[in-house]
Amino acid sequence: MSFRTIQWHDGKVVMIDQTRLPAEEVYNEYSDYQGVAQAIRGMIIRGAPAIGVAAAMGVALGARDIIATDHDGFFRDFEIICNVMAGTRPTAVNLFWAIDRMKRMAELHKTLPLSALRKILIDEAIRVEEEDLAICKAIGSHGAALIPHGATVLTHCNAGGLATAGYGTALGVIRAAHEAGKGIKVFADETRPWLQGARLTAWELMKDNIPVTLISDNMAGYFMKKGEITCCVVGADRIAANGDTANKIGTYSVAVLAKENGIPFYVAAPVSTLDLTLSHGDQIPIEERTSLEVTHIKGIAIAPEGVAVKNPAFDVTPARYITGIITEHGVAQGDYLKELKALAEKG
Ligand code: MRU
Repeated sequence: MSFRTIQWHDGKVVMIDQTRLPAEEVYNEYSDYQGVAQAIRGMIIRGAPAIGVAAAMGVALGARDIIATDHDGFFRDFEIICNVMAGTRPTAVNLFWAIDRMKRMAELHKTLPLSALRKILIDEAIRVEEEDLAICKAIGSHGAALIPHGATVLTHCNAGGLATAGYGTALGVIRAAHEAGKGIKVFADETRPWLQGARLTAWELMKDNIPVTLISDNMAGYFMKKGEITCCVVGADRIAANGDTANKIGTYSVAVLAKENGIPFYVAAPVSTLDLTLSHGDQIPIEERTSLEVTHIKGIAIAPEGVAVKNPAFDVTPARYITGIITEHGVAQGDYLKELKALAEKG
């Protein structure tokens, strides 16, 4: 891939600015944790695994800059930093997973001198990024086996390199199938209101010369009914113990349409997206974003001023619509409660 989503470079966090794609490929540098938190809130970086990497790096930046010289003071400030990062976005569980991982690391090494502890936290954040790339590759190879030769794969939102440390989850499956010479094509839903499909998925697939056709969200059923879609692969923001899956708003509609048309519907996600503390999807917190994302496009009003708006950023697809959940440790198909637990334990 010819871009880097996020990296730790020279004591700063560098991210490609996803609000400016596809028009401009701009990299922003962040030297404090507040900047990273703002970048997550403002969708400079988005997508569950990428948000997790950003959170880990944000915590590491914050820990590095704590001015307290005693351990009590350090851990008091560390808790504040973790809480700020945790308050950025509510749905993608990878955010909380990454913060917990950083907290566990700090706890494990709490008796070390602060300079050593700060270094350990930076190394851990870099490791979260490096591991994510390897995880995406493993998801890709498990998933590619499920994609038939010559398939047309429909995807929703962006679960690509931009949503991860690179390669992607749903797009990881697509990339691996493409690399295996399966001659696949992709249909990308544009994904209103934020247009992750049009702006990001189409951009990164075209960069990799993977054939992609952009459709607006309301066209998916039309193409499924015509027999033009072989299977669907999407990412996830949080998967409950029973397999119910939160992903970008509109995913549920795609899954229902897929079932109606007898088309397999797969979810691709790392085990860090599993939230086995939740028994079912109704317990997943759904982020509600500003009405401006619905009423405006690039600052231009497309709806009458003052109209009432709803803007949930995610929906939950019940497990019964999901043909399989592809993780880095294998594919869950059937008894999700049992199989997801087993996959999580392999981690
Ligand atoms: O609001 P976003 O752009 O962060 O939502 C992203 C999605 O819903 C993705 O499909 C999901 O995070 C999986 S990314 C590998």
